[in-house]
Amino acid sequence: MKPHIVVLASGSGSNFQAILNAIDSGSLDASVSHLIASKPGIGAIQIASGARIPVSIMSARLCGSPAEFEKQLLQLLKDQNPALIVLAGWLLKIPSGVIQHFEGKIINIHPSLLPDYGGQGFYGIRVHQAVISDRRRISGCTVHLVTEEFDEGPVIARKQVPVYPEDSPETLATRVLEQEHQLLPATIQKLLHP
Ligand code: GRF
Repeated sequence: MKPHIVVLASGSGSNFQAILNAIDSGSLDASVSHLIASKPGIGAIQIASGARIPVSIMSARLCGSPAEFEKQLLQLLKDQNPALIVLAGWLLKIPSGVIQHFEGKIINIHPSLLPDYGGQGFYGIRVHQAVISDRRRISGCTVHLVTEEFDEGPVIARKQVPVYPEDSPETLATRVLEQEHQLLPATIQKLLHP
C-alpha cells in the first residue's frame, strides 16, 4: 500500500499541485487522501475537486472557536491517520493539541532560508520584500518540522536561489516558488521512503 498524506492549504495551491504532479509522474510514491482548506473559494479546493480528493474546510472562525477547531482538526487527522501531514501554503497556526499528537509528522514549506525571515508576520510577499530591502544576495525555501512556534521547527531541507539587483518582491517570489515546487515533493518522498 502506498503511504498517504493529508495536505493543508490556504491559497492558490500551487505547492499542492506540485505534489499531485510528482505523484502522477512517479517521482513521489504516495497518495493524497484529504485536503484541508482554511477558507472556501481558494484555488487549492478547485485542484482537489479536479483530482477527486475529498476536502474539508476548517478554521477557528468557521468552527466557532479555537477549541472547537482543535477538536475537529484533531479528529479528522486521527481518522485519516496519514503517514505525513503537509502544510502547503497554510497560513493558520496549528493548534498545540494537534502538534503534540502528531509530533514529528507535520511539515511546512516556507519561502525563505530559515531561520532568516521566519516567524510571525513573515508570510507571502512580505518575506521577499524584507529580503530585497536587506539587499540579500541569496534567498530560497525551507521545509521544516512544525512545532508550536511559527517557522521554528528543525530544518529538514533547504534550496537556495540567487537574488538579483533588479529583482522585485514578485520576481523573487516566482523564482523561490519554482524551487518550492521541486523541494516539497522531493522532501516528502525522502521522508516517506528513507
Ligand atoms: C508559498 O510561497 C508557500 O511557501 C507559502 O505560500 C506560498 C503560496 O503557496 N507558505 P501555494 O501557491 O498556495 O502553494
